[in-house]
Parts: sequence; structure tokens; C-alpha cells
Amino acid sequence: MPVAAPPEHQHHLNCPHRRRAVYASNTSSYCRRMKGAKPIPGPKCSYAPNLIPLFNRWNRTYGSIMAADVLGTKQVVLGTDKAANDLLVKRGNIYSGRGTPPAALFMSQGLVTFMMQKTEKWRRQRKLLHTLLASTVATKYEPFIELESTYSLRDLLQTPEAFENHVERYAYAIVFSLGLGKSITNVHDDVLRESSALTDEILATFRPEKYIANLIPILIRAPSWLVPSNGKLAEVQQRMKADVLRHENRVRKGVGDGTGPDSWMRYYLENRDEYGLELEEARSPYNVLLTVITIMMEYPEWQKKVQDEVDRVVGAERLPAFDDLPNLPVFRAVIKEGIRWRSIVAEIGVPHLLDEDDFYEGFFIPKGTMVYANYNLYPDGAVFNPDRWLNPAYPTYREPLIVYPNLLNFTSFGYGRRVCPGPNFTERTLTIMTARIAWACDIKKRIDPATKKEMPLNIRYEPTPNPKPLPFPSDIKPRNKKRTELVRKEAERRRATDPLAQ
Ligand code: HEM
Repeated sequence: MPVAAPPEHQHHLNCPHRRRAVYASNTSSYCRRMKGAKPIPGPKCSYAPNLIPLFNRWNRTYGSIMAADVLGTKQVVLGTDKAANDLLVKRGNIYSGRGTPPAALFMSQGLVTFMMQKTEKWRRQRKLLHTLLASTVATKYEPFIELESTYSLRDLLQTPEAFENHVERYAYAIVFSLGLGKSITNVHDDVLRESSALTDEILATFRPEKYIANLIPILIRAPSWLVPSNGKLAEVQQRMKADVLRHENRVRKGVGDGTGPDSWMRYYLENRDEYGLELEEARSPYNVLLTVITIMMEYPEWQKKVQDEVDRVVGAERLPAFDDLPNLPVFRAVIKEGIRWRSIVAEIGVPHLLDEDDFYEGFFIPKGTMVYANYNLYPDGAVFNPDRWLNPAYPTYREPLIVYPNLLNFTSFGYGRRVCPGPNFTERTLTIMTARIAWACDIKKRIDPATKKEMPLNIRYEPTPNPKPLPFPSDIKPRNKKRTELVRKEAERRRATDPLAQ
């Protein structure tokens, strides 16, 4: 006997957005499967440019699983690690699609892994990324990372007020040298600037207020004279294709005439004969390093702890090196906590897309639902507290401290088959640079010349996935002349043997 949908779902069925709601595309199957199932609790239609604060509030109100209708699409937020594991990991065969908004999907044309649907190309792409970024391989990158961190530290000590530039150059230089065998010595380098600007444009395609097709998907087919933002999408798409092709041609030429260095792109070309390398991933370490700088200002007591640790382990006669990292658990804790606390909390998240109707704990979850894991699942999650990784009193503490805390299997990198392939690489990039900054610099809030008081930080993030902190003031100074001189000499010495230096 057919049963009436509970009031909440009647609302969904009557919702004016229903026609474009993917989840309601098969109403008869929906009603059949609804029989006996509990409706997932949650609010009515809702929208906010940054969903994360809303998700946190909703999870507190509605529990471990909640549903909302956001812009006409069914969204489910998993509010416990268990629910995220049960669905995104254990049922990964049906929970591994990607809920990319229409504008982003149209623009990316299967070129950006994290925006791809679950296609054969995505599978190949992940396999290749895994080969390039696995922990066994990532150690091979350490000399490159160490080299770039030496240059960036030298630059930071010379012109600390341009700290954003130095951190940006560092993140991009590593990805470009490893990815393309190309050296980036200056933040104003054309290739870096184009790549960074393109990343901004690519991430902006997630924004509904910029791209109307994200609100009304059918409009993605409209001509650009009717929907001008579609013209912009086509332009971004062309720029991205041209950018990838330019890099590919450079590397292909080097492969052809035998002059090109080893690089990820070279590996792609030699193994798959197709392009697909994403350089916008440099953005994540860049964002986290900026976040770490804000942490040093907001939490001087943690800056002191990391400086004491690095001074004790490394001393004053040499720069921190990769071999020191096992002995720097406080650093690893501050970075891990920084990623947990700021970067992801500020994200709108990158949802998985459910491929088939499903039931979970008596709830019906229809095919086409966007499924988010709420990353802020920790006790007192809003509080920055690296002790949760260092103090045995916390359930998140693990031993031995020469291994933990680390970024492997960390929920901030996602779940299941779409989990981020980058933690090994990220960990190396972030820890060495942070340890070196703490060894050589003091970071304080800037003093307002008018009031003579510390300027408040008020950190804000862009409303996109993988958001960058918006510009903020900072006062970075060398800790002492001896260390500054040591860094300068080390950069000079390394440059003499740098394989990519002209
Ligand atoms: C702090 C640094 C980073 C954080 C916090 C981070 C986090 C994430 C998260 C949350 C996802 C989505 C996972 C999911 O859907 O369950 C993701 C996907 C991805 N990340 Fe990262 N990531 C970081 C750095 C990197 C780096 C350095 C690379 C590459 C060198 C990278 C490559 C990717 C790729 C390719 C995907 C898409 C995977 C897919 O859709 O199949 N990430 N990342």
C-alpha cells in the first residue's frame, strides 16, 4: 500500500526547485524506497555562501546524519566519523561520485581530478597521482623541498613584509620544479602568476553568486548573450586548456630532445600519453602556511613552544632538516591542528555524490544526494588546541611521538575513494618550512602606528573550496643576525649546485 511521504518530504516534493533536484528525478522509485524509512532530520530549503558554520550548527541540532535542501539539491551531512566511515569508506562503491556544481563541471571538462565524476579517466588519474605522491616516493622529493625552503627563508628574512609572496613562491616553486622540471625564482614569474590567477578563476566557478548556472542548472546550456557568465566559463576553460598544453609542450620537447629533467608531467607523458597534471594543488600548502603564520600571532604561547623545541633539537649552528622532523612532535601537532581548525572549517567542503538509492540506520538517502562529511567532529572543535595530539588525556593522542601526530589517515583529507592523495607531500612541504621559519623568525601582530596597539587579525577566507585567507597584517622579524647570515650562506651554497638554476 502506498504511504504518504512524511511532511518534510512532502515539502521537498512540492518544492518549486523540485524539477531540477537530482534526487527527485525518479519519484516512483523514491516513494517505493521511502516506504518504512525514517525521514532524515534537517531544515527546509536553505542557502548560505559558506555552508560549514551552518553544517556545524545543524549537526548539533539534528545529530549524526541530517539532510537539507540547498538550492534545490538534496544535501546530507554526516556528523560523526563513524557515519562518514560507514558510508563514504565502507560503501565507497556508491558514495564516490563528485558533487561538482554545474558551472565548475562544465568548465573543468574532465581536466581537474577533484571535480571529475567517477569516470575511467578519474580512476587512471588517481592511480597516477598515487604513484607520484605515495610515501615511498615522497621522500625522493625532500631535497627539492629543502632547497626551495632555503630560498624562501632567505627571502623572508630579507623582506619580511612580503611574507605572502615568499610563501606563495615556495608552494608553487615546489610543485613546478617537481611537476614540470621548471624553476620559479620569483613570485612575479609569468608562469606562476598565470597559474595562480587561473586557480582563482577555477575555484570561483563553485560560487553561485558568480555563476547563475549553479543556481539554475538548466542555464548552463544558454548562449552567452543570454547568460554572460557562461561566456566567462568558456573563457576560463580555454585558458586552462591552453595552460596545460603549454606546460605539456615544454616538457614534451625536453623529453624529445633528451634535455628535460625528470618531472611528474614527464612521467604522465611517457606513461599515458595524455595530459592531466594539476598545478593548482600548490594552493593548499600555500593556504596552510598563511594559516600557520596567523596561528603564531594569535597563539604566542605555541610559537614559544615550537621555538623552544626547534632550538633544543636543532641548536643554533644549522638549519632544521628533514631528519629532525621525528623529534619535532610539537611542530607536527601545531600544523595538524592548524589544518583541522582553520583551513577545513572555513571550506564549503567538496561533497561526494551518491550513485544509487541507499538506506542507512533506517534513513532513506536517495540517489543523486550530495554527501558531506562534517570535518569539525572533534570535542571542542572550535578551539585551537594542539594538545589534543600531544597530551595522553585526549582520545586523539597517539604514540610514539616520533611518528605521531602526522597527517596520514587524517579526516581533514577526506574519506574513501576520493580521499586526498596529497598528505605525504603536504606534510613534508609544511613541516620543514614551518620549522625553518620558527628557527629563524619571530612573528608578531603588527602595531598600529596611530593607536600604538596590536592590529586585530580578523582572518577571513574566500568563499570557495580550498579557500585562501584574505590579506592580513603581520610583523615578521629575524630572531638574530647569526641565524640570518647562516640562512643567506646556505642559500648561496645550495644555489651553486641547484640543478634547475640558470
Ligand atoms: C593541507 C593540504 C591539503 C588538504 C587539507 C587537502 C584536503 C583535501 C580534501 C578534503 C579533499 C576531498 C576528499 C574527499 O572528497 O573525500 C581533497 C581532494 C584532493 N586533493 Fe587534497 N588536500 C591538500 C593538499 C593536496 C595536495 C598537495 C595535492 C597534490 C599534490 C592534493 C591533491 C588532491 C586531489 C587530486 C584531490 C581530488 C581527489 C578526488 O577527487 O579523487 N591535495 N584534498
